[in-house]
Amino acid sequence: MSTHKRIGILTAGGDSPGLNAAIRGFGKTAIGHYGWELIGYRDGITGLVNNRHIPLDGAALSGILTVGGTILGTSRDKVHKFPVDGEPVDMVPTVVENYHKEGLDALILLGGGGTAKNAKRLVDAGLNVLHLPKTIDNDIAMTDTSFGFATALEIATDAIDRVHSTAHSHHRIILTELMGHRAGWLTLGAGLAGGADVILIPEIPYTVEKIVETIQARTARGSSFSVIAIAEGARDVDDTADFEAARLLAKSARTPEAARAAKSHLANVEDSQREHTFRLARELEAATGLESRVTILGYVQRGGTPCAADRLLATRIGAAAADLVAAGEFGFMVAARGEGTEPVPLSEVAGKVKTVPVDHEWVTAARKVGTGLGD
Ligand code: F6P
Repeated sequence: MSTHKRIGILTAGGDSPGLNAAIRGFGKTAIGHYGWELIGYRDGITGLVNNRHIPLDGAALSGILTVGGTILGTSRDKVHKFPVDGEPVDMVPTVVENYHKEGLDALILLGGGGTAKNAKRLVDAGLNVLHLPKTIDNDIAMTDTSFGFATALEIATDAIDRVHSTAHSHHRIILTELMGHRAGWLTLGAGLAGGADVILIPEIPYTVEKIVETIQARTARGSSFSVIAIAEGARDVDDTADFEAARLLAKSARTPEAARAAKSHLANVEDSQREHTFRLARELEAATGLESRVTILGYVQRGGTPCAADRLLATRIGAAAADLVAAGEFGFMVAARGEGTEPVPLSEVAGKVKTVPVDHEWVTAARKVGTGLGD
């Protein structure tokens, strides 16, 4: 048993299956194995800023392994741009003050890419911080995977399986839109596992003509229906060019006024592209003569009990994080690496996105089995 410690834990960003399993994995190791004290901050960064927390003891951690969502609540707030009376305020000094007032020895942040950035800011302010990677998007840099992804993949694959029989019965095209604004892992994985005929992801801009080619080739072979897995961030070639230009403008703005204007332009471009799956359905219907329908899976993908793979991953990452606290090692994301874990400096994670490489084996396998990728 090592010396006493008081640790804070929170969940931030969009929820995902496995958050409670990770809280439990860390908490049971911290309390049971090391004999430390644990408090849980409510609603992510919001609770940290407002110093709202609850004690987490053995009883609080019992029975949560299989529960979806997060028992602590979550939010998407940023610690350096925290909304106060509608204005963004840097709350890092407040968090540092709360951390010391509470007598904390470490802070554990469970979250995605945005949370890695928050964690890095708190590390830079001198706090003992670890980040545990969660997201259904699988887009966190420097980790093999993140908890939540395996569960969402099961749900999304099941959805694609199910639309097959109805698309087949009605001789329709059914576009199933899956989550993933920036990265296509979930759509590509579920599309492959579910045998979608066309898979459209943000990393591979599509043209309607290429998709029509794939569908018409299927019709010629006697398959008068098609199932399309499409990521919410997938775009055609023209929309991709508009979006990238607007994003570049926003990144390179030199003055606050230029930055504001570029940001609002980017928001307008994104807004105009929001209904892209419905637009594509209309275009495919016109070009192929096949009735087209859209299914948007939405939050179903993030809800409910985590699958076994996510429970395992979350538990071992949580337990490994407690070991790092015991060893006095901070400033890391606890990455999944093969069957093990690896501490990766947050400076190598924050601000990066793990997108699908266009030569990734999932992409090449899709091409080899004849799946259209719209390019
Ligand atoms: O958690 C990541 C994610 O699921 C993205 O795929 C999706 O675009 C986003 O969250 C939407 O979440 P919210 O509406 O909660 O901000």
